[in-house]
Amino acid sequence: MNRILVALDVDSRAKALHLADQLRGTVAGYKIGKQLFTAEGPDVVRALTSRGDRVFLDLKFHDIPNTVAGAVKSAIATGAWMVNVHASGGSAMMRAAATAAREQAAKLGVTPPLVIGVTVLTSMDEAALAEIGTTRSVLEQVVHLARLAKDAGLDGVVASPQEIAAIRAACGPDFAIVTPGIRPAGEAGKDDQARTLTPAQAVAAGATYLVIGRPITAASDPRAAAEGIAAELG
Ligand code: C5P
Repeated sequence: MNRILVALDVDSRAKALHLADQLRGTVAGYKIGKQLFTAEGPDVVRALTSRGDRVFLDLKFHDIPNTVAGAVKSAIATGAWMVNVHASGGSAMMRAAATAAREQAAKLGVTPPLVIGVTVLTSMDEAALAEIGTTRSVLEQVVHLARLAKDAGLDGVVASPQEIAAIRAACGPDFAIVTPGIRPAGEAGKDDQARTLTPAQAVAAGATYLVIGRPITAASDPRAAAEGIAAELG
């Protein structure tokens, strides 16, 4: 299966399941984020995982280690294939997430979900980092947090297209890099994504999974759009 994870950024279970039904077989999985999860809860995740779909549950947990461990355990009960936590929650929190994933999955006899770190939100620039007391540049802080995530036992990080190469160099070939901000050739600058790469450029730079939303979900024919991108990736 290819590397495409489709962001189901919709507000209802019906719309999400309709999109997934249209796309099944053409993509590697679906990303469910805070909008859909807050509207519909874990049932919408189970509705997909029970059909055999891979779901990246993008809830970006960030809390005390015990609470994050509990959230990861609850995520496993939904059948999520990938979950994420804020790396800025620190090593102890990330280790608790990784341990909870491993132990709870073993207890239930299922494959543990990939646990992925969020480094620096792309909405934050150097001034925003300075405001919260970080003196590093954005890229330095991203690479610092990616290393911390790897050392804490996480499986990878979410990274913008501009950050892929530096993280790949710092964290090695087996660390998963999940990359949003992807626009097919000819669609750069569309929507609100300022800095984009094409799917092929992102893979060449070292991305493991591509999170793609509107270029597929807002297309008049989402399946054809996904097939086009998949074909470009080979
Ligand atoms: O529609 P589009 O392809 O821009 O969707 C990208 C998805 O990835 C959205 O769910 C968005 O919230 C998410 N994302 C992003 N940039 C980040 C982190 C997450 O676009 N830095």
